[in-house]
Amino acid sequence: MKTRFNFTNRDIVSIKGFTREEIDYILEIAAAFEPLAEKGSDMLKGKVLAELFFEPSTRTRLSFETAMYKLGGNVIGFAEPGVSSVKKGETLADTVRVVENYSDVIVMRHPLEGAARFAAEYAHVPVINGGSGAEEHPTQALLDLYTILKAKGRIDGLNIALMGDLRYGRTVHSLAYALSLYDVKLNMVSPELLRMRTEVLEDIKTRIDVTEHRDVEDILPELDVLYVTRIQKERFPDLGEYEKVRGTYKVDLDLLRNAKDDLVVLHPLPRVDEIAVEVDSTPFAKYFEQTRNGVIVRMALLALVLGAIKE
Ligand code: CP
Repeated sequence: MKTRFNFTNRDIVSIKGFTREEIDYILEIAAAFEPLAEKGSDMLKGKVLAELFFEPSTRTRLSFETAMYKLGGNVIGFAEPGVSSVKKGETLADTVRVVENYSDVIVMRHPLEGAARFAAEYAHVPVINGGSGAEEHPTQALLDLYTILKAKGRIDGLNIALMGDLRYGRTVHSLAYALSLYDVKLNMVSPELLRMRTEVLEDIKTRIDVTEHRDVEDILPELDVLYVTRIQKERFPDLGEYEKVRGTYKVDLDLLRNAKDDLVVLHPLPRVDEIAVEVDSTPFAKYFEQTRNGVIVRMALLALVLGAIKE
């Protein structure tokens, strides 16, 4: 496998650090890794991944862990800070300076925006952002793009909607930045309270057309991809505000009657009630495939930042 870009020891903190060519390259490496997800490899034998999760996770943590094991590496870490010395008052900087002595790469999830960048400044091993507050989730965006590419055969030319909590949902921030590097039409669908962050909109509008909508019905028949998100109750400073928007959207069979036959419905998961279970068994639903693709893409990322892919 040829390397066109050098990712060795590179931090993955924000999707904004990537060019389109670099993202396309990562997606190509991921596609080449598909067979390894089945048969495994010893490409990362002797390497250690440290997972520092200061917030709950199922997919990000376990898929990174699976990815590392599939490539022959090992995993250490904690799934919640209560079992670490953070509980005794150890700082994030000290935690990182200690853990880098035990590991070759760190994946970190933290409730604070900027935490991943802060950790990357202290660590001498690469830091991968597994979700930083409501800010970004760059590896989720990469697996989202990979899923779109697999499902539709292309990203350019697609009409895509991001729907739900565009204010507090970190996955849609990273995905919006990433999609703006492609020739797509992007629609933001949300209640007024949960509109896409201004700084994201201003940035991506310099590259692509973006429209904003309250009702998905207005655009559904033209969509190729509908990316649904959970309303992030835990990030609302005032639960009264959450109650105003709770249950705003529900994707069900009735709604999807007006969709293209080949519409792809994605969701970073976990879902609460924004996609009805009845949708799961339809060809629209690609959100569980999305979780499998997370392993493939994270295998590619670990191999890249650990320098396992050579000319
Ligand atoms: N999509 C995602 O980040 O899921 P987890 O919160 O379970 O990691």
